[in-house]
Amino acid sequence: MKTAHLEWTADRSLRMLDQTRLPTEERWVEARTYEDVAEAIRSMVVRGAPLIGVVAAFGMAMAAASAPDSLDEAAAALRATRPTAVNLSWAIDRMLAFAAAHSNPHDVIQEAERIAVEDAAMCREMSRLGAELMPARGGVLTHCNAGALAMVEYGSALGVIRAACEAGKDLHVFVDETRPFLQGARLTAWELQRLGIPMTLITDNMAGYFMQAGRIQAVVTGADRIAANGDTANKIGTYSVAVLAHEHSIPFYIAAPVSTIDLRCESGAGIPIEERSEQEVTHFAGVRVAPEGVHAAHPAFDVTPARYITGIITNAGIARPPFRSDLERFVKGVEAVA
Ligand code: MRU
Repeated sequence: MKTAHLEWTADRSLRMLDQTRLPTEERWVEARTYEDVAEAIRSMVVRGAPLIGVVAAFGMAMAAASAPDSLDEAAAALRATRPTAVNLSWAIDRMLAFAAAHSNPHDVIQEAERIAVEDAAMCREMSRLGAELMPARGGVLTHCNAGALAMVEYGSALGVIRAACEAGKDLHVFVDETRPFLQGARLTAWELQRLGIPMTLITDNMAGYFMQAGRIQAVVTGADRIAANGDTANKIGTYSVAVLAHEHSIPFYIAAPVSTIDLRCESGAGIPIEERSEQEVTHFAGVRVAPEGVHAAHPAFDVTPARYITGIITNAGIARPPFRSDLERFVKGVEAVA
């Protein structure tokens, strides 16, 4: 299995393009054990909800191949890396269930590869469906990075924009820089530039200005976890963008695979929010910008209440308010096929 940023090698290691170094350096990191994989997820060498699920599946495959009795330990270590993205637990649970029924490590590796292949197919399908919702021309704002880098390939929110452009729509993307980790400035801008899609990079606090000026006709972002009622966790700052979009009557869409829907979470109140290091806020590119001794908060995600969401684009269809019945139908449909 090999994509532009992920490779499962013949000697059972996982090579990952290091997303902490982009766009200045294209450096690859190699993981040989599940502990290496857990560290790559924790340090954000790989990030994005669907991608960390896929990578964790390969971590589980490594554990199954080297010491099958370490699977529970591997699951716990991988699960603890990043709590908000449900795709991580989803992939780990699927691997645990598969390994319990199949003792041959080769089969377990194939299951991880299947998760990767399915992820790619889900992206294509949701992008195709979501492209229809994009305006024929105009500005589309996105927050964080929900492009190919956050998945196996193609992307979710960026996939929707990409598919719309491929279908001939004339879009201009407004890219929120996404403080503090700068996924927008570093990764989304890098991807759009390589795709040749016109864009303007803005700081997060400029979104309202451009909406008020009539430059943004739609917003589309990814998701880390979607609760049964449609409340959606995504990168910190998404909630502010959704409220602004609502104020300006601009449609606000979420694009995510069905594996991001968590029906066990009744509402956003049940979604755990990852707290990351305050250093990522007090420092910029490794340089301290706040006075010595100042403390900072760093919730890495926030929850956008369902009432601000116009539609949730998934590979199984587009969920519309009040969301619950559509989301349940999509998840049950996928379970029935599996
Ligand atoms: O902290 P990150 O970079 O992993 O956060 C990523 C996001 O918030 C994405 O929007 C989300 O995971 C969806 S990626 C298709």
